[in-house]
Amino acid sequence: MNNVYIETYGCQMNQADSGIVGKVLEDNGYKLVSSQDDADVILINTCAVRDNAEKRIHNRVHDLQALKKKNPLLKIGIIGCMAERLQDSLIKEDKVNIVCGPDSYRKIHELINQSTAIDVELSKDETYEDIIPAQLNSDGISAFISIMRGCENFCTYCVVPYTRGKERSRSPQSIIQEAKQLFDDGYRDITLLGQNVNSYIYTEDGKEVRFAELLVRVARINPSLRVRFATSHPKDLSEELVNAIASMPNICKYIHLPVQSGSNIMLKKMNRKYTVEEYLAKIDLIRKKIPDCAISTDVIAGFCGETEEDHAMTLDIFRKVRYDSAFMFKYSDRPGTVAHKRFVDDIEETEKVRRLQEIIDLQRELSLQSNQKDIGKTFEVLVEGESKRDSSKLFGRTSQNKVVIFDKGDNKKGDYIDVIIENCTSATLFGKKIN
Ligand code: 5AD
Ligand code: SF4
Repeated sequence: MNNVYIETYGCQMNQADSGIVGKVLEDNGYKLVSSQDDADVILINTCAVRDNAEKRIHNRVHDLQALKKKNPLLKIGIIGCMAERLQDSLIKEDKVNIVCGPDSYRKIHELINQSTAIDVELSKDETYEDIIPAQLNSDGISAFISIMRGCENFCTYCVVPYTRGKERSRSPQSIIQEAKQLFDDGYRDITLLGQNVNSYIYTEDGKEVRFAELLVRVARINPSLRVRFATSHPKDLSEELVNAIASMPNICKYIHLPVQSGSNIMLKKMNRKYTVEEYLAKIDLIRKKIPDCAISTDVIAGFCGETEEDHAMTLDIFRKVRYDSAFMFKYSDRPGTVAHKRFVDDIEETEKVRRLQEIIDLQRELSLQSNQKDIGKTFEVLVEGESKRDSSKLFGRTSQNKVVIFDKGDNKKGDYIDVIIENCTSATLFGKKIN
């Protein structure tokens, strides 16, 4: 009766959190299984950032009721951001047994023990820093370490400050210990995670440790450990951090710097706390100090009151920055946010779709151009596994976070290989091992 299946939606932070939940359960006598058919308990780690993410999960829970008919003892739990946002309505309306918010994972086994249970208390100081997470669905090469929790930026469209609470950072010593352990276990690519990693701050022996210093300390563990991070807020991406990335070859040359909009009017309304000009100055700084750095972004199409002119400015900033890749969304009104309370969600759905498609089409072209520029260049690729389409090939990533496919030869997962790029699509590079 102790088999648990954990299914994860949403961001990388949620993947890291599922590992924490997994570890708490393992320590309390539960077994993690990789198929829902073997499970006595199914936990769904959820995302609340957009309405369609939530709809998908409601549908999934609805489908799971069929499994419950076959196995009446099966328990279903909702954990993560939707648990925090919807609370007991999930028990009443979606008929789940367990509702557990992001700061209550230490108690997950106690909640499972009851027939129905809810804990959505947010905490000012919970960081789970003493819990070394289970590696769920792991490739054995890439892993996440959550270094801070919560968000206090209050972008007006965003539900995260309400679902994940106040910002708090983990001790550097606990992060380094976890990274060392991962390296010893064979992991070679670690992403340090936080809703806004630039806000990382921890007082150690009376001295403040900030993110740039932490990043360097993790990178010093071993030159063959690659270190990445996500996400940076443009308002506080510091020169010190850019210098730190430039200073060590194993800090990956890739920065995810969400712009959200190319219009100053929208940025102000979104409470992003930077202007287009300030954002572009940060991009210039990155380009100057780290010429081979890849840059990606998040963007929202059709925010409240966005005019055709505002939208054109978003396309314009994409052309100016020439992003290597982007995560593109249409605005989704979230109850509880400032935008929901103060602004009108007035852009027609068809218009949002059109604007989003224009951004996607432009980005596809920019990604292709970015990849074409790599043809003829040699990159060090960390092998992550066999290509899913062709088992005679391997796939891995460059420091710039681009996926490369090449002939397997006698190489394997975890190897670093110099690959010369010969061909590309907008999503993938194809190359050949040199020497
Ligand atoms: N609607 C659409 N996209 C959103 N994001 C956050 N909130 C919303 C929303 N209400 C996007 C932002 C953020 C990413 C994680 O999700 O672009 O950076
Ligand atoms: Fe992650 Fe935000 Fe979704 Fe929560 S709402 S899972 S923090 S993306």
